[in-house]
Amino acid sequence: MKIRILSLLVCFTLSSLFTDVSAQKNNSSIPSLVKQGNAYNLIVDGKPFIILGGELGNSSFTSLEYMKPVWPKLKMMNLNTVLVPVYWELIEPVEGKFEFDLYDKLIKEARNNNLKLVLLWFGSWKNSMSSHAPAWVKKDQQRFPRVKDNNGKSHEILTPFSEENLNADIKAFAALMKHIKAFDQKNHTVIMIQPENEIGMLPSAKDYNPLANKKFQESVPLELMHYLIKNKEKLVPEFKEVWAKNGFKESGTWEEIFGKGTHTDEIFMAWYFSKFTDAVAKAGKEIFPLPMYVNAALNRPGAKPGLGYPSAGPLPHIMDIWKAGAPTIDFLSPDFYFPNIKHWSDLFTRQGNPLFIPEHAFDKTVAAKAAFTIGHYEAIGFSPFSIESVKEPENEPLGKIYKMIDQITPLVISNRGQNKVEGVLFDKENKESVFRFGDYEFTVKHSNTLGYDADAKNEVWETTGALIVQTNQNEFYFIGFGVVLTFKNIRHPELNVGILKVDEGKFENNKWKVIRHLNGDQTHQGRHVRALLNEYSLQRFELYNYE
Ligand code: DGJ
Repeated sequence: MKIRILSLLVCFTLSSLFTDVSAQKNNSSIPSLVKQGNAYNLIVDGKPFIILGGELGNSSFTSLEYMKPVWPKLKMMNLNTVLVPVYWELIEPVEGKFEFDLYDKLIKEARNNNLKLVLLWFGSWKNSMSSHAPAWVKKDQQRFPRVKDNNGKSHEILTPFSEENLNADIKAFAALMKHIKAFDQKNHTVIMIQPENEIGMLPSAKDYNPLANKKFQESVPLELMHYLIKNKEKLVPEFKEVWAKNGFKESGTWEEIFGKGTHTDEIFMAWYFSKFTDAVAKAGKEIFPLPMYVNAALNRPGAKPGLGYPSAGPLPHIMDIWKAGAPTIDFLSPDFYFPNIKHWSDLFTRQGNPLFIPEHAFDKTVAAKAAFTIGHYEAIGFSPFSIESVKEPENEPLGKIYKMIDQITPLVISNRGQNKVEGVLFDKENKESVFRFGDYEFTVKHSNTLGYDADAKNEVWETTGALIVQTNQNEFYFIGFGVVLTFKNIRHPELNVGILKVDEGKFENNKWKVIRHLNGDQTHQGRHVRALLNEYSLQRFELYNYE
């Protein structure tokens, strides 16, 4: 949940403490994450940047020919960034011999299309499996050992307990980062890296390889214990409870400290997965320190680790283990393939973890959710999966919303981290949101609550959303659709709030241009500000007070 506690003064003080001003001004600086008030900016080409993204299907970014018809679709949907895999098997087909030709050509194509890239390192793990390891790794099980499940059966999953496995991944990833540095450090086409993909152990909660079994009998490493003791008060409650149940023991084996059960198997695996990933990320950052994050396959309620979901990924209930084991990783990110985005985003943004959504099922809700997450969580970016599968890119709602977010980005950025940016997300079950901007209390509702649209009678309401920015005491901008806004002055409740002016418009070269002055029926004669369903709208409005 958004915490509206810092006063403006504190925000400015904080921002001047944390903001690396030189990074924001220097065009040649490497992309970085910079704190602004209580939010984070991704700095690209010396300026804050919001990722209006999409992730390509897993096998699309492997040929120029296949990508040819894809680039125009991405442009038509107003993306500024594409998330694309880099396969270990393609860059190192023979041990120690690296081939980057294909990726260089693809990076050049991205540049030609004015698109930034986030590279997904399909190295040791991709959706738990090691399917992207090169043949020379896959075929040498002695040298590159795999996990074993609780029946002693091997799987095509490299064990994180092998030094040889780690070194092979590090060498390949370091070669990739070295190449990106050489090929791209002037252009900054590549702005961020995701080491590995949806790490997690299947089909049992823990690895039963003898290397793992040995570690499981050992004491919990001091490094982890020190972290837990030092951060005891800020641990996420569900993890703290597990530790508390066993009396907050400060030394002992995994089972002595956390108890017996698959929850402890998962904690144990999370430590070794995070240590492995951290070592890979660290080797890469030592060469070229781009921001790096990991993504998680979410666990459905009640599902068991290993069986029901990949155990030990960077999930909220074990985020403390990941933060302790992988300090080089800048943040943990959720992949959304089932609905409850508010619930999961609230969990992921604890402890100041910035929100970035690298994957969301490319469904009808994404346009609303892009506006909502960039507004409410001040997210670094949003990116539906399999973005090239769009049928009519010119009519895609996400493209319309991205176009407007792009126009409003300078306003969002300059007001970030100061409780002046909000986002809303509605459907029939969640039709109202109330929040505060300065003296004003905003009540924003699904536009179907007006009953104007035929959709209001339907059993299911279209998911709608908006992003709202306060740019002055009485001045606001919003982008979105299917929303209606009303206002109260809560500092001076004796005053009425009136609408002085509402304009629909666009920004051209950062200059506001009015397309329509909205009043009369379009504001219910001055009673509300709104955009109905299918009215993807960018509006500026001013409020005033009267007795
Ligand atoms: C999540 C993975 O991270 C993606 O690479 C892809 O496999 C999708 N699942 C498929 O739905």
